[in-house]
Amino acid sequence: MPLLTLPSVVGHRGAASYSPENTLASLTEAKTRGATWVEFDVKLSGDGVPVLMHDASLKRTAGLDRAAAATSWAEIATLDAGGWFAPRFAGERVPSFEQTIRHLAVLGLGANVEIKPCPGREAETAIATVRMLQRLWPAALPTPVLSSFADSALAAARDTAPELSRALLFGATGDDWAARASAVGAVGINVAARRLTPERAADIRAAGYLLSVYTVNEPEAARRLMVMGAHSIISDAPDLVIAALAR
Ligand code: G3P
Ligand code: MG
Repeated sequence: MPLLTLPSVVGHRGAASYSPENTLASLTEAKTRGATWVEFDVKLSGDGVPVLMHDASLKRTAGLDRAAAATSWAEIATLDAGGWFAPRFAGERVPSFEQTIRHLAVLGLGANVEIKPCPGREAETAIATVRMLQRLWPAALPTPVLSSFADSALAAARDTAPELSRALLFGATGDDWAARASAVGAVGINVAARRLTPERAADIRAAGYLLSVYTVNEPEAARRLMVMGAHSIISDAPDLVIAALAR
């Protein structure tokens, strides 16, 4: 794969301020609002199908009070993943990762693919995700980046698909951030913006990593973070951040 280049703005869970997170509608919304890349969360259904879902439970976004890990893809695919957000999105589905890649190809969007495993399924989730990227990622799209809070997921991704770029996700970075990033061969560090200090941002940049920050919906905060050294801002409202950075 070619070298990773990140855009200055990435839509979070699609464009989660405007449409139900981690749905095809949300990816389309991000594109409509000017994003060139999106972030979304991938975990496995009970029968091992990679799907877009943030929470371990299906309850909040798909209305079924059960773990995704205990539910088959066939059942997940029938759930309403949009009605909770606004009535006009009722009938929106939980997409599989495969459906998502095909949709990104149509939209021409790049992706930060967050591996969001249920506990105990870190390696399995990473392997299923990278195998699908190897099989289906369109050559015409930008090189994607894999991210995860789970070091073991990124290690499994590296072992299965070393050619795919990786970013280690943090809430706050501890003093072992560089050792952890190096251990999984990460090229990127993705940090919670409100927990990032200017000193740590400078250290990350000086060490040669691509620095992404999440989740930034305030235009002025986005501008400050770019000055602090962020390469990329992950936002629920990519249109607002794009406008702020253009000022
Ligand atoms: O990838 C950035 C961000 O999505 C990480 O946190 O909980 O929104 O997946 P979360
Ligand atoms: Mg995420």
